[in-house]
Amino acid sequence: MAIRSLLRRCKDCSRWQNCASASATHLARAFHSAVNPSESSTSAFNDGSLESNARGLWTSSGQNTITATLFPGDGIGPEIANSVKEVFRQAQVPIQWEEHYIGNTVDPRTGSFVTYESMESVRRNGIGLKGPMTTPIGKGHKSLNLALRKELGLYANVRPCLSIPGHKTRYDNVDLVTIRENTEGEYSGLEHQVVRGVVESLKIITRQASSRVAEYAFHYAEVHGRKRVSAIHKANIMKKTDGLFLQCCREVAENYPNIVYEEVIIDNCCMMLVKNPALFDVLVMPNLYGDIISDLCAGLIGGLGLTPSGNIGDNGLALMEAVHGTAPDIAGKNMANPTALLLSSVMMLKHLGLNDQAESIHKAILKTIEEGKYLTGDIGGSAGTKHTTDRSLLSWSYSCCGLLELVFY
Ligand SMILES: NC(=O)c1ccc[n+]([C@@H]2O[C@H](COP(=O)([O-])OP(=O)(O)OC[C@H]3O[C@@H](n4cnc5c(N)ncnc54)[C@H](O)[C@@H]3O)[C@@H](O)[C@H]2O)c1
Repeated sequence: MAIRSLLRRCKDCSRWQNCASASATHLARAFHSAVNPSESSTSAFNDGSLESNARGLWTSSGQNTITATLFPGDGIGPEIANSVKEVFRQAQVPIQWEEHYIGNTVDPRTGSFVTYESMESVRRNGIGLKGPMTTPIGKGHKSLNLALRKELGLYANVRPCLSIPGHKTRYDNVDLVTIRENTEGEYSGLEHQVVRGVVESLKIITRQASSRVAEYAFHYAEVHGRKRVSAIHKANIMKKTDGLFLQCCREVAENYPNIVYEEVIIDNCCMMLVKNPALFDVLVMPNLYGDIISDLCAGLIGGLGLTPSGNIGDNGLALMEAVHGTAPDIAGKNMANPTALLLSSVMMLKHLGLNDQAESIHKAILKTIEEGKYLTGDIGGSAGTKHTTDRSLLSWSYSCCGLLELVFY
């Protein structure tokens, strides 16, 4: 059955919808609510950057198709990337993917397994989506993730952490955003042996990178109507490095008098987050703290499989990614939860201004989780990731809003 034959108009809003039984009022209502969401729950998925510089192409059908780079990554990456591709295809999102794979030798032009051509693809398209990539622990080549972030100047990592309705965790109303400096700090990659038995790692903090990420955090808070920015640090010990980071945050804060600015020491921040996450709104911090705190926050809403993120650079450059890794323990077993990458793709659509598509996919994801029928093992279910085209079409016809039903088989 062709997808096109499933197109009907929603009774409530007259928008086109994909539904086999458009006469079924409840499905139309579901679609209506999907494309007309309440503001609060989804707006955080807009990364708040100024302009996307993504390339658009007018096709013969008159639709503006945007080219985006896709890194399926490795481990569970290809499985969950397939889920995104399938959902976009079914939802007729006007994205054309330019897929790039990680090489198996170091490209001297990037110093990592990410090829120069892959980097150029993101630069050229201005937008991309990335699956997880393996980094060997304690040895070997430069981290692929670090290489991408540094080479592309993706200076801010944004992770909205919102409770998912119907998915019970310790807290019901988590609504916070972590913004992590992405290019320097403890991740500068400057480590060496001083003498045998003594190694040294350099933590680099610069005024330029700190001010840039602080500016992004306050800008994000302002455009999303958020009230408070908390700078997370350990300046009581690392007086110069974290001291400079704080100094930059203070200077930026002066330009945003309507936003409350506070400074919280990282250890105290962890304790406050697990006791009462509602104490925080937007958190901005250097690289390593951001890596740790954002995973802690993912735990507050149900885990890594549910948390999206976006890496933001200058001139609207953006590379969205799930926060989790390659999950080698479940790779290739049809057990991976595609939600985090799907939500990251929602962030990508918002960044591109494709708000209707973003909202409908976002709502479908939330609805599927709330229904609880097709959940993967990490969030208490037993459904798998894979699907076949036939099964997808069957599922699609089952519910116009049940996009994830075609993902969780
Ligand atoms: N952005 C990235 O590309 C990224 C991020 C983190 C880790 N990594 C890399 O991934 C590899 C494995 O790292 P790790 O084991 O520490 O972390 P991980 O996130 O891969 O796995 C941690 C645990 O969470 C589970 N999990 C993760 N994502 C899941 C999903 N979508 N659905 C269901 N369960 C999921 C895994 O099965 C595992 O039990 C390492 O090489 C690491 O460097 C990459």
